[in-house]
Amino acid sequence: MSNILDYETVALVDEVDAIEIIDQTLLPGKTEMIRLHTGKEIWDAIYLLQVRGAPAIGVTAGFGIYLLMKHSEADSYEAFMTEFREKSDYLNSSRPTAVNLSWALKRMEAHVKEFCEEGKSFDRAAVIAEMKAESERIKAEDIDVCRRIGENGLTLIEDGYGLLTHCNAGQLATCKYGTATAPMYLAHEKGMKIKVYCDETRPLLQGARLTAYELHSAGIDTTLLCDNMSASLMKSGAINAIFVGCDRVAANGDAANKIGTSVVATVAKRYNIPFYVCAPTSTIDINTPTGDEIKIEQRKPEEVTEMWYKERMAPEGVKVYNPAFDVTDNELITGIVTEYGVLRAPYDVAIRKLFEQVKA
Ligand code: MRU
Repeated sequence: MSNILDYETVALVDEVDAIEIIDQTLLPGKTEMIRLHTGKEIWDAIYLLQVRGAPAIGVTAGFGIYLLMKHSEADSYEAFMTEFREKSDYLNSSRPTAVNLSWALKRMEAHVKEFCEEGKSFDRAAVIAEMKAESERIKAEDIDVCRRIGENGLTLIEDGYGLLTHCNAGQLATCKYGTATAPMYLAHEKGMKIKVYCDETRPLLQGARLTAYELHSAGIDTTLLCDNMSASLMKSGAINAIFVGCDRVAANGDAANKIGTSVVATVAKRYNIPFYVCAPTSTIDINTPTGDEIKIEQRKPEEVTEMWYKERMAPEGVKVYNPAFDVTDNELITGIVTEYGVLRAPYDVAIRKLFEQVKA
């Protein structure tokens, strides 16, 4: 295979008790598939961003908890659930901001509880088979949801548009299409002429290494820029709309995404450019009232001072500020594109209605 889009971001290889992922830390130079077998390997792959992007992390967690419980010897429902929670808490501790991680683990737990009728019945082999089926459903739904986000986002794009995106909310962050990139892939499929501009996304370069790579591989007109160039690009009139992904949307519509997203949104407001956040409902966390309560991951200083450089590019001993995400205030967001449609402000009302509709 020569096109990165032909590879699966996350796959279950059940016969060898493994999750297979593309090691995203090596892209675009090298496409290497790695297999994760143990809890520690899965935890490390998520923490080290070998697999990253909120939906892809969720799918990995679903497969992960299934594989970690597959050979359980628990002989009662209670023992099984104790082991489940211990392993689930461990996987959940790998990254704090993307809600899809805990969402997938909670969904797996709820499914086991429901299947065992809260402990009234327990057939270990049957529970494990159910866990496998549920984890595969999480993956299949991710593909369907991204496609629908793409269709809803496409209604916001016109032929000839210049689009800007930040970080990677692409196929490499999901199982297909991506979220922010899904409308771009669909526009391209329809023969619309779009130009996509990708922020490089310091410090881990997801925009340069991943988004620019996958969009360019798809044959989309792609231009890379450093993060600090986006204001001048917006001022020049080249950008008609901005699409980004997100890691957690709070109940009031505040949205956490890759560090730098809120700068893009603030500048977009200055130049009246619509700013859209693409989010599967699994990324909306109605239990987090506002962005202030979203836990922001802090990462190692070396990512800023030396990673990617031949030699260290900052004085030894200098303090480093390296949050992985920031929160875009809801008033800067023109619309939240979900698989059910485009939500508009007031977001607290729109999100509440969406969850009532989904439950019904
Ligand atoms: O640190 P990362 O690379 O996992 O951050 C990813 C992002 O911020 C994405 O925009 C987000 O997870 C949405 S992916 C569809």
